[in-house]
Amino acid sequence: MRLILVSNRLPVQWDGTPSVGGLATGLSSFLSHWKSLGNEVLWVGWPGKSIPEKEQKKYSEQMEKEYGTIPVFLKQKLADFFYNGFCNKTIWPLFHYFTAHCEYSDLTFQSYEEANEEFAQTVAKIYQPGDWVWVHDYHLFLLPGLLRNIFPNIFISFFLHIPFPTFEIFRLMPERFRTKILNGLLGSDLIGFHTQSYTQYFLRTLLRCLGIENERGVVYHQNHLTKTGAFPMGINVEQFSNYAKSKECAEIANSINRNHKDLKQILSVDRLDYTKGVLQRLNAFDLFLKENPHWIRKCKFVLVLVPSRTDVSSYQSMKRAIDEKVGSINGIYGTLDWTPILYQYKGFPFEELVPLYKNTHVMLVTPFRDGMNLVAKEFLVSQDSGMLVLSEMAGASAELPEAILVNPNDLKSISEAIREAIEMPKEEIQNRNQIMIKRLSENSVKDWAEKIFHETEEAATKNLSFQTKSISPNSEQLLPNANKPIFIIFDYDGTLVPFQSLPHLAIPYPELIENFKKLLSLKNVTIAIISGRDRTFLENHFGDFPIHLVAEHGAWHKPPNIQNWNSLFTSSGEWKSQILNHLNEFTKRVPGSFTEEKDFSLVWHFRNADPDIGLNAAREMLDELSQVSSNSGFFVQRGNKIIEVREYGTGKGKAALKILPNDDMNIFIFGDDATDEDMFREMPEPAITVKIGKSETMAKYRFKSPNEVQIWIKNLINYLEGKNETP
Ligand code: UDP
Ligand code: G6P
Repeated sequence: MRLILVSNRLPVQWDGTPSVGGLATGLSSFLSHWKSLGNEVLWVGWPGKSIPEKEQKKYSEQMEKEYGTIPVFLKQKLADFFYNGFCNKTIWPLFHYFTAHCEYSDLTFQSYEEANEEFAQTVAKIYQPGDWVWVHDYHLFLLPGLLRNIFPNIFISFFLHIPFPTFEIFRLMPERFRTKILNGLLGSDLIGFHTQSYTQYFLRTLLRCLGIENERGVVYHQNHLTKTGAFPMGINVEQFSNYAKSKECAEIANSINRNHKDLKQILSVDRLDYTKGVLQRLNAFDLFLKENPHWIRKCKFVLVLVPSRTDVSSYQSMKRAIDEKVGSINGIYGTLDWTPILYQYKGFPFEELVPLYKNTHVMLVTPFRDGMNLVAKEFLVSQDSGMLVLSEMAGASAELPEAILVNPNDLKSISEAIREAIEMPKEEIQNRNQIMIKRLSENSVKDWAEKIFHETEEAATKNLSFQTKSISPNSEQLLPNANKPIFIIFDYDGTLVPFQSLPHLAIPYPELIENFKKLLSLKNVTIAIISGRDRTFLENHFGDFPIHLVAEHGAWHKPPNIQNWNSLFTSSGEWKSQILNHLNEFTKRVPGSFTEEKDFSLVWHFRNADPDIGLNAAREMLDELSQVSSNSGFFVQRGNKIIEVREYGTGKGKAALKILPNDDMNIFIFGDDATDEDMFREMPEPAITVKIGKSETMAKYRFKSPNEVQIWIKNLINYLEGKNETP
């Protein structure tokens, strides 16, 4: 299968130098495995600078030939507003909880939209049906939605390499930006995060910002299903550990260490980024030397900082502060023959980085916040007997609890952790590391990508099956055999009329009444409305029509041209008063909710409540009531923003069977809700069942909205009138 990877950063920059950061390094090591299986890969991304138009063609050909990369050309100003602007001055600080660094600008957001559009155009040029498109990271939140618009059946995953923040942080972004971002993401079949917490924060954000609920991590939105899940990114364990054990690595390690053999090495390796907590770490090292003078002249701190985003001012000021702090510590503690901090402002290639890991006694990974942090994992599989000190705020900490975990804001705890690690017996270090290495070996970067592939495939297959069900209301497949009678059953809310904030506002509109009149004037057509509504409502709005009216999900029935309502089922109703009190308790607790009392059922509505509070209360209610419902004369059912408690043995399916004649007829059934699934399930096979809306269904076909039901009725009228006119 051909894979199209899409990320802002390509593995190599415009001048052929390797890119920095976990996305580029991590994905590069997965790709060698993917290609070894005989798969083709194209990697689409920004070359890192603007390339003059006349050189673009030659450059593209060269990049594709040499590296399999397809460049996305962005003009200098666009790239600046997009990358330095919205990506690195808005999303990056916000998603890492550095809210004071955030700028919110319509100008940079517009460039973000334009850049995403450029990426979409580039992918569209090379995309072929059957490709797996895998979009990466925060620069491209809008891309899945844009691609889905162009290719409705595209097979597409999205993975976020940085944290997803809590809703309270995410909502700081202006609504006009955040709504587009969430909708863009929902164009994916699968959205992956590094941890379970980030996934939960995302799902809660969907609920709070867009009112979209999820069913165990699966989201249905605009006729499309998106799976979400935690997929902690792994590393290429074999590559690191094999090289770490090699003779070549040992030689480099010895030569680097030649002049400091007796000093215990403390190491940290980061891109120079304010999220990495470098200044705080230096302050902690300072405190460590102050409180543990016996370690002066016995250790060295190798501080590797890789230049990053040097055009952004917050990165420049951070660099100045770090330079000063390093100078100050070296000035205070250093002697002519000992320098406490060996500061390297550059990146090291793999062949030199692994020997550095191997020589290390204490590895300091103390970011304020980090999506994952691959350095921590790479160190563990490369070290000899070095101890990892790891921030609780790094995604990696969820998988590495045997490390010494620290709060990066707590200087004292980092300083104590350095002492504990440097003095820890070798045997204990090895015991702890062994457990972590085993875990890392079981989830390598290859396993990570394969899991994402399989989950995406599962979601995409479901999406395709939804597509097959979607049908135009004018389709010939939905026309009856004109020689047989026609029996049509409609649900009411969400099927004949759209939902409103309050049930009494959802009344039939003139076009619907008109369509009903025309339909009923035709020969051999019978209509039934089977609704959860009570008798009074149906009587008031449809009492004058010669149709079947069934109220309260089948509890009451009024046949055509008959004045009285009869009960379709018998009821004891004993359970009602007790359950009513219970529902009223919830109504008091959840502002905006209310309880509706019907003859055979009680309904708790939470459409107008705060979505989060309403949903939590609904889950609690379902849980409690389901536990007591058996043998209590009632059953509980979840509907669209409602919980319904109903007399046992009633239900739309049973009601429909009771009113349907036994004749050979065309049967049509339309419904939108979980309660309508009873009808879809229980109808005889030739019946044409149509679900309105997006969630999973037993129905044969699907319409997008109640509007399509009206289109179908009009089409049916035209068809039958045409038949009647034919001599
Ligand atoms: N890295 C490197 N050379 C260096 C420093 C870092 O190749 O001198 C690589 C390192 O091996 C790791 C990546 O850069 O794979 C950093 O990824 P991480 O997830 O730790 O942090 P990020 O930079 O993505 O925030
Ligand atoms: C983080 C981000 C990556 C990014 C990398 C380097 O790891 O998640 O998307 O590529 O930092 O940053 P840069 O801005 O140089 O691409």
